[in-house]
Amino acid sequence: MKVVAVLLAAGSGKRFGEKKQFIKLKGEPLFQYSLNTINKIDDITDVVLVLPEEDIDRTKVFSFKNVMKVAGGKERQDSVYNALKSVEKADIVVIHDSARPFATEKMFTDGIKNVKEGWDGSITALKSRDTIKEVDRNTVKRTLNREKLYIVQTPQTFVFEKLLYVHEKARENNIYGTDDSFLMEMEGFRITVNEGSALNFKVTTKEDLLLANCLIKGKKPF
Ligand code: CTP
Ligand code: MG
Repeated sequence: MKVVAVLLAAGSGKRFGEKKQFIKLKGEPLFQYSLNTINKIDDITDVVLVLPEEDIDRTKVFSFKNVMKVAGGKERQDSVYNALKSVEKADIVVIHDSARPFATEKMFTDGIKNVKEGWDGSITALKSRDTIKEVDRNTVKRTLNREKLYIVQTPQTFVFEKLLYVHEKARENNIYGTDDSFLMEMEGFRITVNEGSALNFKVTTKEDLLLANCLIKGKKPF
């Protein structure tokens, strides 16, 4: 079974203030951390690294895998689509945000295992530890049942042909979702969860970078 990883690094980092994927942590750019983890997954043979078009030539990549650099699109979903279209043949695809440098090997291997066992997709998710409420114009509307709420992360693993199909369909109908699983769910595909972690946070703002640096250097954040 051919397993391809799509590593997304084509964002513009509006909330961060610059392209965070190239920020160096202990001498290595942020995106390289995920690539180092992907390198350890035997099942994955190929990586599609999605980059801003203007950065493709200057971006140096260290990998034991076959890495193809592809230009991203306007939205994250467009970047995933470009990556999927660049793959000649694959059985399973793993989508990962390079903004999550602390995804573990297990998150990748668990997702791949679930899809190999017959699920259409498997997403890394963490059971909510906080109570989540629906609020509309500063008024609390209701309290959701915490037992059923999960915080969703990446990697997300799917049957390649099925993910390509839902992306094509979403494009035709101009539907945008915040993750790939959403598009699969809309088409009735069966998605399961594999265990995430609070440490698998997404570097979104400068505050997150502070945390990431502390974790990498083994320092206390506060
Ligand atoms: N991403 C991408 N192509 C896009 C937008 C996002 O490949 N057009 C990638 C980012 O590089 C990141 C991941 O998707 O690894 C998650 O996106 P996010 O954290 O939102 O990053 P940015 O879009 O860069 O940040 P912002 O939304 O603040 O601009
Ligand atoms: Mg974004």
